[in-house]
Amino acid sequence: MNNPIGIFDSGIGGLTVVKQLRKLLPEEHLIYFGDTARIPYGTKSQRLVQQYALQDAHFLLQYNVKMIVVACNSASASALPLLQEQLDIPVIGVVAPGASAAVDLTRNNKVGVIGTTATVNSQAYTREIHRLAPETEVFGQPCPLLVPLVEEGWIDDYVTVLTIKKYVHDLLRQHIDTLILGCTHYPVLEQTIQKVVGDAIRLIDSGKETAQVVKELLTERKMLHKGKKTEQDRFFVSDIPAKFEEVGSRFLGQPLERVERVDFDQFLIQSGLEKELQLQGN
Ligand code: DGL
Repeated sequence: MNNPIGIFDSGIGGLTVVKQLRKLLPEEHLIYFGDTARIPYGTKSQRLVQQYALQDAHFLLQYNVKMIVVACNSASASALPLLQEQLDIPVIGVVAPGASAAVDLTRNNKVGVIGTTATVNSQAYTREIHRLAPETEVFGQPCPLLVPLVEEGWIDDYVTVLTIKKYVHDLLRQHIDTLILGCTHYPVLEQTIQKVVGDAIRLIDSGKETAQVVKELLTERKMLHKGKKTEQDRFFVSDIPAKFEEVGSRFLGQPLERVERVDFDQFLIQSGLEKELQLQGN
């Protein structure tokens, strides 16, 4: 099935999932939407994130995507069941794949999770880990400052190192042996985080795990792209493509050209989406 895979995030973080998808499924055509006008999602209420996530997904549906990857932990934690219920195509998030990898990897059953305030407070990782391995202790730490540092491109800057040190201080005292990077922005900082926490702690990049799950799903449902890739991936943002191109190219290790700015307000009005949305939560 040669329709594209749709991917969305609140900004640049979802490119960590794109990077893994390109490695694992190089023939697949990708359509990416980064909601740079409304980032961050991780400090917003569940209801608002659900609304944004539904709008992002509807934007991608215009391109006849065969599935949607919610490449944002905050949106996965708040809106995945809603998206799965309301859309007719498969939708997968990043939380379950990351949680499952942590359960497989931990030896002492002590797992740390760093993420946005929304993700950590939602307890989505804790619930999923306890479903798989009830004896595992899960320690969460919101790290809201890391998202703007990544968006700014301060990857191994001393300010970033100090910020990570302060955030992980309490987690290290719990003797965790596995740390989930529970925000799609954080794999950009993987090396910096590893340096701070030391080599004894294993980091989980949920993007990597998610790409694996995408491959399994497409294989199982016989929806893999047939033949060579003929179309270029497309990248859309809802505001200021320039920064996205600059930081994104550095991160993907290849130029991100022609990032397209969407007039998102216009899109919402035209599609009449505001009336259609049925939200849950508060
Ligand atoms: N990429 C988002 C996530 O994984 C973090 C950025 C945000 O707060 O929107 O949660």
